[in-house]
Amino acid sequence: MKHEIVEKNIGLLAFFMVIAVSIGGLTQIVPLFFQDSVNEPVTDLKPYTALQLEGRDIYIREGCVQCHSQMIRPFRAETERYGHYSVAGESVYEHPFLWGSKRTGPDLARVGGRYSDSWHQAHLYNPRNVVPESKMPAYPWLAANKVDTQYTETKMRVMRWLGVPYTDEDIKGAVSSLKGKTEMEAVVAYLQVLGTSIQNKR
Ligand code: HEC
Repeated sequence: MKHEIVEKNIGLLAFFMVIAVSIGGLTQIVPLFFQDSVNEPVTDLKPYTALQLEGRDIYIREGCVQCHSQMIRPFRAETERYGHYSVAGESVYEHPFLWGSKRTGPDLARVGGRYSDSWHQAHLYNPRNVVPESKMPAYPWLAANKVDTQYTETKMRVMRWLGVPYTDEDIKGAVSSLKGKTEMEAVVAYLQVLGTSIQNKR
């Protein structure tokens, strides 16, 4: 029997299994690339400024994503606490996305505008200064370090190649706009823009 041939030949079986599983996966994944509702940016979405983009990279470097998700699920308990649930169109310019899944700290998808810049600076310098019971680590060096602009232009070019609509002027002006800026200012600028492309916050 032909069926027996496949069952008794592990290589052949593995081959057919891979095909069967890929068809299942691809029929779910491929259509997403062509669906406007998931690849159209929401109306107010703006590409990150150079400062915000560098802030985002520092957020990645410092591992903030290990404790903070950026993805509000469409459940009552989440929307009551954080605001409107996350939609795909907000993440179109995110490369790579930082949705995360671990929430040692609160979700940050809509933290933009919730606190003042100086609150964030005090909090990042030492979270215990503003939230006495906090167990978030302190990041005092952010205040001392200047933003490294060596790769800023390259990063923006790569982002443009990935579909983020940066203009030549944006890229040309990037390094000078970062002159003298600290890493703290960059991270705070990034935090303050999170989730602001959608109205109807909490
Ligand atoms: C070890 C886990 C951990 C890491 C890593 C971490 N955080 Fe936190 N974060 C927390 C916890 C817990 C809280 C809640 C207590 C507080 O507000 O300090 C918090 C709170 C926050 C808040 C306030 C959110 C709100 O809605 O009140 C912000 C903003 C924040 N973190 C940003 C960051 C940034 C930026 C980084 C990286 C530089 C970072 N966190 C790294 C655990 C972490």
